[in-house]
Amino acid sequence: MGGISFMNRTVVITGAGRGLGRTYALDIAKRGGNVVVNDLGSAADESKAEAEKVVEEIRALGGNAIAEFSDISTEKGGQAAINAAVENFGRIDALINNAGILRDASLAKITADQFNAVVAVHLNGSFYTTKAAFPIMKAQGYGRFVFTTSAAGLFGNFGQANYAAAKMGLVGLSNVVGVEGAKSNILSNVIAPGAKTRMTEGMGALMDALPPEQVTPMVTYLASKACSTTQNIYSVGGGSFARIFVGVAPGWFGQEGRAPTAEEIEANFDKIDSQDGYIVPKNVGEEAALLKR
Ligand SMILES: NC(=O)c1ccc[n+]([C@@H]2O[C@H](COP(=O)([O-])OP(=O)(O)OC[C@H]3O[C@@H](n4cnc5c(N)ncnc54)[C@H](O)[C@@H]3O)[C@@H](O)[C@H]2O)c1
Repeated sequence: MGGISFMNRTVVITGAGRGLGRTYALDIAKRGGNVVVNDLGSAADESKAEAEKVVEEIRALGGNAIAEFSDISTEKGGQAAINAAVENFGRIDALINNAGILRDASLAKITADQFNAVVAVHLNGSFYTTKAAFPIMKAQGYGRFVFTTSAAGLFGNFGQANYAAAKMGLVGLSNVVGVEGAKSNILSNVIAPGAKTRMTEGMGALMDALPPEQVTPMVTYLASKACSTTQNIYSVGGGSFARIFVGVAPGWFGQEGRAPTAEEIEANFDKIDSQDGYIVPKNVGEEAALLKR
């Protein structure tokens, strides 16, 4: 198998009992990595059984993996998933924040509980695991993070205020991991996948053309030593791999020494609104530099 190896590396994958996460676990384990297959559940819960099944699959292939059942939407659970890597394999090299749930409802109907439940798993959960893993990676001078956003979060989707808010928040979190980890060889990237899984069941024929395995190689790459990019977002699905970015264009400057009027904003709105000549800043300083005349 190619040149991308995970020998002597340990990877934690949240929500890896099924769907996309399961495919990442299998591919990384096949490449020699030790994998912590996190997926929540009590003894009677099928999710727990799912994590155990993935571990059995990996072991049958001769790989190393353990099942870990923490609910990563709690600080204790996020910490426990990372502790499992250190306790069982002595280290953590990559964290794939993948666990997720949906509680779709239009803004007219959504409850605070529905909003908070989704933010708790996607955004807070990714923060808890990241907070636990980051200092270890910093101390060892190596780390890879992969976060999971969604086109619904980046571009908007009816009925997904909770999901979209959490998924966009993850982009900000990944960028800060990238900025703060830069000196320690810690790279952080985000994928926006499209795949037929339990989460997207019933979404129609489009999903049939999107097997999860079409997403896997991108995540394997981003979680590996071969990866050299950071703070980027990639759209991945159905064989397509493409960059998504947040850019800022040069826009328009008002007259020096005074604030423009609202009428001047109106008169110059085409220039303000134009995407021509945009850049993609890597931090707030690069954006702020554009504010200088
Ligand atoms: N499938 C897609 O097309 C698609 C599109 C955009 C984004 N995503 C994102 O990809 C990720 C994986 O989704 P999937 O499609 O494989 O869904 P999935 O439902 O098949 O898998 C998600 C897994 O996360 C686990 N999980 C949920 N809450 C958890 C918690 N608190 N702690 C631990 N595990 C938990 C679930 O038990 C489940 O096994 C999610 O973050 C999802 O939002 C998926």
